[in-house]
Amino acid sequence: MILGIGSGSTIVYAVTRLAERVRKEGLKIVCIPTSFQAQQLIVTNNLTLGSLDTTPELDCAIDGADEVDDKLTLIKGGGGCQTQEKIVASCARKLVIVADSTKNSTSLGQQYKKIPVEVIPLAYNPILQRITQKFGGTAELRMGKMKAGPIVSDNGNFIVDWFFPTGIEDWKTVNERIKMMPGVVETGLFVDMAQIAYFGGPDGSLSVKL
Ligand code: A5P
Repeated sequence: MILGIGSGSTIVYAVTRLAERVRKEGLKIVCIPTSFQAQQLIVTNNLTLGSLDTTPELDCAIDGADEVDDKLTLIKGGGGCQTQEKIVASCARKLVIVADSTKNSTSLGQQYKKIPVEVIPLAYNPILQRITQKFGGTAELRMGKMKAGPIVSDNGNFIVDWFFPTGIEDWKTVNERIKMMPGVVETGLFVDMAQIAYFGGPDGSLSVKL
């Protein structure tokens, strides 16, 4: 199986379990990373590292999410990795989401209030203005906590966080319009990409959304 490996904190549990099964059952899996973090995770778990250069068609990608609505529209990019995550997911026949139950909502914005947007550094300020002028809300450049200055993505770009207003329903159009702004590399809105989401509860329970 050719499997995309997502980024974030939840995917770590999935990869640990995957590595256990590869060891015990001899599963043959080539893993395609969605970030530097995912690449390290694959290597440290002794899994086989692949790339889109050699395997551009994936059977499945597994990833976390910041929020999942009832149509399986996702907000991703809390860790700033949405661009590579979306590229890898777009190459996969199936996108499976693993998340804790706090990420499960009926409509976006109930749990997570912002959409991360990766931008070319030169364009961050015009994009901050355009997004809020067109759609309302507020937007800010994501700044480092330990690092002075802005967070830089794995692709050498900046991240703009758009705190969107309530009442938006047509996320497909919003995503398309933001993507068309010059300097936008990718948004953290994943529309019509995921097929299934698994949510783990604090009591060990599991719920599934299709
Ligand atoms: C990485 O940038 C993100 O898209 C993550 O996949 C998402 O933020 C979920 O991360 P957690 O599993 O840490 O909540």
